[in-house]
Amino acid sequence: MDDRPYFRPAALDHLLADAAGLGFTMSCEDRTGSLLATLAASKPGGHMVELGTGVGAGASWLLHGMRADAHLTSVETDLAYQAVAADHLGHDTRVSFVTADAEAWLDSYAGPPLALAYVD
Ligand SMILES: C[S@@+](CC[C@H](N)C(=O)[O-])C[C@H]1O[C@@H](n2cnc3c(N)ncnc32)[C@H](O)[C@@H]1O
Repeated sequence: MDDRPYFRPAALDHLLADAAGLGFTMSCEDRTGSLLATLAASKPGGHMVELGTGVGAGASWLLHGMRADAHLTSVETDLAYQAVAADHLGHDTRVSFVTADAEAWLDSYAGPPLALAYVD
């Protein structure tokens, strides 16, 4: 049995190549990403959050599944890691990258109810 996903986000391999250059090894695996995409697809119009952007692998999968009217906010403390994500995914108007501590960001969050939280 081979349950690896066939359809992967276009930016994923570029993100992972940049991650290797930074020595970043904490990106989600493809099977996890595929689940994230499926969950995101089930939330039309949903506001989603990712706590811990890393270099954006998880965000790329979430965006892969998200409908056009959904939105993702991805929070990360490390600007260098998050810059890779912003570089490859920042053109997508469905995502906002926030450089902040996740706990502080959550404490001050005053937006709409969240449809999905990927706490990683
Ligand atoms: C496992 S990696 C994230 C991987 C990413 N979610 C993915 O699916 O590819 C965890 C990330 O959380 C970040 N991080 C750790 N503590 C944090 C905090 N308090 N607030 C925001 N980000 C944090 C780390 O810098 C690291 O990039």
